[in-house]
Amino acid sequence: MKYFLKTYGCQMNIHDSEFISGVVEEMGFFPSPPDEADLIILNTCSVRDRAEQKVRTYLGDLKKIKSKNPRLVIGVMGCMASRARDYLERLNFLDFLLGPTQIESFPAVLSGVLKNKGISPPRVSLPFKYKRADKISAYVNITLGCSNFCSYCVVPYVRGRERSRPPEEIIEEIKDLSGCGFLEVILLGQNVNAYGKEIPGWSFERLLEKIAEIDGIQRIRYTTSHPRDFTKSLVLKIKNLPKVCEHFHLPVQSGSNKVLESMNRGYSREEYLDLVSFIREEVPVSSITTDLIVGYPEEGEREFLETVDLMERVKFDHAYILTYSPRPGTSAFSLGDPVPSSEKERRLHFLQEKQRQHSLFRNLPLKGETLEVLVEGKDPKGNLIGRTRTNKEAFFRGEESLLGKLVRVKIEEVTPWSLKGKEL
Ligand code: SAM
Ligand code: SF4
Ligand code: F3S
Repeated sequence: MKYFLKTYGCQMNIHDSEFISGVVEEMGFFPSPPDEADLIILNTCSVRDRAEQKVRTYLGDLKKIKSKNPRLVIGVMGCMASRARDYLERLNFLDFLLGPTQIESFPAVLSGVLKNKGISPPRVSLPFKYKRADKISAYVNITLGCSNFCSYCVVPYVRGRERSRPPEEIIEEIKDLSGCGFLEVILLGQNVNAYGKEIPGWSFERLLEKIAEIDGIQRIRYTTSHPRDFTKSLVLKIKNLPKVCEHFHLPVQSGSNKVLESMNRGYSREEYLDLVSFIREEVPVSSITTDLIVGYPEEGEREFLETVDLMERVKFDHAYILTYSPRPGTSAFSLGDPVPSSEKERRLHFLQEKQRQHSLFRNLPLKGETLEVLVEGKDPKGNLIGRTRTNKEAFFRGEESLLGKLVRVKIEEVTPWSLKGKEL
């Protein structure tokens, strides 16, 4: 039997898909293109309407495939299965819906659906393993859900309140990964800095310390941080733990205090800039990246220019810039959507161009430098691809045997988006 899984959205969803693939492959399914599959699963995202629109369009195609093959099983998982449940329940060609908070019941739900379809229950052995996308770098959940309730964001509603996984469980999982040869772990959560708030004696700092003690793991990354909870003490901890990479992803969202307050972000532009200065002082060889939203209801030209000004001051290495999308059920929804789309697009393009210049500004000094790169794959042109400790993509010529190794690469060319060089 064959399956097709399509994933939308963030790294948490990509990691959930590693669990979904692990389960279905354990049940005896093999990956295939959608038109040959017996089982199709969409792992969806609700962060903006555009993310949901992609799923709605694809569901239209699946309806046609199912009309030709009524035995096909189709399931919708992920954040949209939670947020847009009423809409999805009306689509009578779907066999199951399962939101992210129910993902642990997926093996039982799928078995039930298959039995009802007359498909004999497949071979199952516990525990289910993630089907990891590669053998070098592994995602590890440390917190689930979010309790921050940023005014624009659906995540707390679809993924539930923030909870930390028990530290023993995380450490065991990472020891196992190290035993399997993984060199890097990427710790996942919507606000990893809040890890352990409800577990006496634990904190994100302590967790980093414990993970750094695990033999074999050479690099530790984490995402996402929340600027409000990113303390100076954490910066110093990271500085003193050589395995923790010098990449700080600090989503700022806006450079205007008025907008930040309306967004319920819990920090001011001054506090954010102070944190950035502290990082640059203490960890000078580092990268700082961010997320920005343009066209939030309270963002007029003045507020937008404050974001431009903040970008000029920080000169981020990279930024994910998105246009605001009103999400029903969030507190900002009541503010309407007063910024016209043409204006949102203008602001988006303006910031994208600014960011292109800043990324180049950050990458230019790397020309001639020798950087440590973890080799993760190969591009279609035959170049090896890896990441620097600062999370920059680096391309270079080299033998396939270098895959999964840490190598020293002398950078010869840079663009705003990547580095190119040769192995030393
Ligand atoms: N937890 C992370 C944080 O606090 O920044 C990010 C999680 S969120 C799923 C990823 C990014 O999507 C956010 O940083 C924000 O920039 C963007 N985002 C979330 N809701 C949005 C909305 N309604 N419209 C536009 N962008 C949005
Ligand atoms: Fe959404 Fe804010 Fe939570 Fe990030 S911290 S997931 S933006 S509510
Ligand atoms: Fe991620 Fe999208 Fe859900 S960004 S948490 S998959 S809404």
